[in-house]
Amino acid sequence: MDKLIIEGGVKLKGEVTVSGAKNSVLPILAATLLTDDACVIKGVPDLRDSNTMLKILRSLGKSVEAEGGVATIAAGKNKGFVADYKLVSTMRASFCVLGPLLGRFKKAKVSLPGGCIIGVRPVDLHLKGIKALGAAISIEGGYVLAKAPRLKGSHMYLGGVYGSSVLATDNVMMAAVLASGRTVIESAACEPEVVDLAEFLNKMGAKIKGHGTPIIEIEGVKHLHGATHTIIPDRIEAGTLMIAALITRGDILIKNAFPAHLGAVIDKLQEAGASIVKAENWLRVTYKKRLKPINITTLPYPGFPTDMQAQMMSLMTVTTGISVITEKIYPDRFMHVAELNRMGAYIQREGPHAIVNGVKSLSGAPVMASDLRASASLVLAGLVAHGDTAISRIYHLERGYENIEEKLEKLGARTRREKE
Ligand code: UD1
Repeated sequence: MDKLIIEGGVKLKGEVTVSGAKNSVLPILAATLLTDDACVIKGVPDLRDSNTMLKILRSLGKSVEAEGGVATIAAGKNKGFVADYKLVSTMRASFCVLGPLLGRFKKAKVSLPGGCIIGVRPVDLHLKGIKALGAAISIEGGYVLAKAPRLKGSHMYLGGVYGSSVLATDNVMMAAVLASGRTVIESAACEPEVVDLAEFLNKMGAKIKGHGTPIIEIEGVKHLHGATHTIIPDRIEAGTLMIAALITRGDILIKNAFPAHLGAVIDKLQEAGASIVKAENWLRVTYKKRLKPINITTLPYPGFPTDMQAQMMSLMTVTTGISVITEKIYPDRFMHVAELNRMGAYIQREGPHAIVNGVKSLSGAPVMASDLRASASLVLAGLVAHGDTAISRIYHLERGYENIEEKLEKLGARTRREKE
């Protein structure tokens, strides 16, 4: 295992290009299971998670070629409908092969993903939606077995205790496109990645309307064909780079970023005092004056994304004053708090709230990455800390940030890898 060493204290300056969105590419790759025709997906980020999904497609009998950010998925020699525990357990998003397998083969056997460090993360909403389409579901040996001789469109409400679910909406949408009749999903997730998936499915011949709103309508079709699609830019990578500019008091032009997908993040950073210039597909973030503390509450899109909570917390650790961060999607997503405190931050956790008392400076320390976004928050803290920060278990970062070290180095950061 590698650890990443960051020598803090450099103002990041220059241009950087954001990669394709992790949360778009995973369900879109899964959607290629809905056809035997070839599909060409462009802008595929070279991430541990995208590679896991490609492995799952191969294990399900697809022929996969991937090079230079372009993946071509076509029918292989065999067809499988069993998604194995070994692969699904390494990445929760693999569970979204359930919908397309069921839609296409009328049966699917997919391992339950289990919990993860940021909480329990149930799949009840996925199963509720799939059942509403007429599938019989049973759980045997840690696997979900779904069967439906005929999937039938239905009207369903898919909201949960914490609001809408991104992957449950994706899963149900992918099963419903080949069901007979009309499906209406109420309380559907509105995230840009759900919209990207719906647009890809429509290119394949599906009839989906209302994506991007809480009510999605799907008119089932008999079959889908191949399509070519380019993945949208990763809004969380863009947001993380925006914070890198501010925390280091630098100036970064972020290309291939859609400010339209970053409304809540831009609003909060402007409230803190950031200077942000934006166009349709780029952003420039400049530190011009001392930042002010801000309060944030994570919510489903278009609210402030939970995937930006840890990074925002890092920024607030060095912003004088008190900020309150409330986590409403994953109340236990605070593994980064103790690690940031090891670097001299002053954060107290009170249930779903973290109270951050901004300090003058952080000091580099050995810290441990616990999940993807927590590792991003430690990288950001390391960029501003005095001395060296050694982040162990850095493989978490590779799940969601393509070439992040090269990108940061091009902006002036001093990083290096060492074996643990
Ligand atoms: C997706 C994103 C993840 C992001 C999350 C919330 C992908 C690959 N991952 O994950 O990066 O942090 O959205 O924006 O797109 N829930 C239930 N029952 C369910 C499903 C979810 O109660 O069946 C709960 C979850 O525990 C959580 C909330 O709903 O509290 C939202 O989770 P969800 O949107 O489903 O997250 P994912 O789709 O797994």
